[in-house]
Amino acid sequence: AQRKQIDKVLALFRLTQEQLVGIQNKMRVEFEYGLKKDTHPLATVKMLPTYVCGMPDGTEKGKFLALDLGGTNFRVLLVKIRSGRRSVRMYNKIFAVPLEIMQGTGEELFDHIVQCIADFLDYMGLKGAQLPLGFTFSFPCRQTSIDKGTLIEWTKGFKATDCEGEDVVDMLREAIKRRNEFDLDIVAVVNDTVGTMMTCGYEDRNCEVGLIAGTGSNMCYMEEMRNIELVEGDEGKMCINTEWGGFGDNGCLDDIQTQYDKEVDEGSLNPGKQRYEKMTSGMYLGEIVRQILINLTKQGLLFRGQISERLRTRGIFETKFLSQIESDRLALLQVRRILQQLGLDSTCEDSIVVKEVCGVVSRRAAQLYGAGLAAIVEKRREDQGLEHMRITVGVDGTLYKLHPHFSRILRETVKELAPHCDVMFMLSEDGSGKGAALITAVAKRLQQAQR
Ligand code: BG6
Ligand code: GLC
Repeated sequence: AQRKQIDKVLALFRLTQEQLVGIQNKMRVEFEYGLKKDTHPLATVKMLPTYVCGMPDGTEKGKFLALDLGGTNFRVLLVKIRSGRRSVRMYNKIFAVPLEIMQGTGEELFDHIVQCIADFLDYMGLKGAQLPLGFTFSFPCRQTSIDKGTLIEWTKGFKATDCEGEDVVDMLREAIKRRNEFDLDIVAVVNDTVGTMMTCGYEDRNCEVGLIAGTGSNMCYMEEMRNIELVEGDEGKMCINTEWGGFGDNGCLDDIQTQYDKEVDEGSLNPGKQRYEKMTSGMYLGEIVRQILINLTKQGLLFRGQISERLRTRGIFETKFLSQIESDRLALLQVRRILQQLGLDSTCEDSIVVKEVCGVVSRRAAQLYGAGLAAIVEKRREDQGLEHMRITVGVDGTLYKLHPHFSRILRETVKELAPHCDVMFMLSEDGSGKGAALITAVAKRLQQAQR
């Protein structure tokens, strides 16, 4: 009888092939909706033009600074690009962004960023240097050019005041001015998906999609200019940052949303927003698991019916724990040890159930990613009138990199849902900072050509 109750909960997370096709179709509708001028302002999948129009061609060169804000780590990088040989050297330093700063005032946040740049320049012995800078800023921005980006709204764990509706490049410039110690030429602001696509595109010209499965969930791709009604011109392509994390915010995923998803949403910094992201990305998967475990414990099916203080604590299940728990190489005893580290006293049966719960939650996430990705590759194939299409997807993010099954399930799902596409996944080894530097190099070259 206990088993039945557990199965009932787990079943809520199992999606049928038919449901996945339905999700793929809905995603496709949202893409078209976001690209059209009339419907764009209302779109929940924002389809933001990035003003990145081509891949690096190998002639880029120079020394660049890059900032990379919005994922697990905040990084400052120095990127040296040599033309011809496609060789890139990078030096980087990771800095902490304390919670008080992520959720303090905008001025404090940008002063902190500039402080970190100053430390990095010091550390590299580059104090007075005047370098072009590319800013990877992994949040939704409305752009009117490559060096302008108005933050639409914060997502994930950020909530600094007085930033939404402001240009993040201006905010960075002002913070640099306040410090009055060095001068930097901010040339490009880039989403992490776009940086990832560029990083991979430098090696593989067929890379026209960038995917992040990390703290957050997002995808960008190269779109035909003629399909982008928001931007003048019909020639060539431009990269679109889909911000697909917002998929479902109009209620179109309500039929698969469980009570656990709702609880996670309600406890988040942005209730009602980023619903697809909350079902798929690293920042939230552990929270879904925790909500299920609380429910099962309440029903007396786990942890002897005792809800510990720890289990009540938000954020205890980080992606790395899910990844460890689900590793097939791990004996159950080790699962129990991990749970113990989390302050959860489990029996052997408990650990089996916990592992199953993690399994259905991460599997659903990978399948939902697969449905979204299948929607974009099929769209690209049809737009080009191809019977069969080969495409490379540049991928990054802790969930994709660390989880033992996520990438495989994602691949399998795409194969099933987009049978006429050959999708190659290319792991970005160097993060999006390298891509941001490449974009900066291209922008700088174009800037100089215009003068
Ligand atoms: C990194 C990028 O490699 O991937 C980050 O450089 C990005 O900017 C990240 O946000 C996504 O992964 P995560 O898991 O750190 O959010
Ligand atoms: C969030 C952000 C998006 C970013 C993604 C991955 O969804 O809104 O801009 O690309 O996280 O980091």
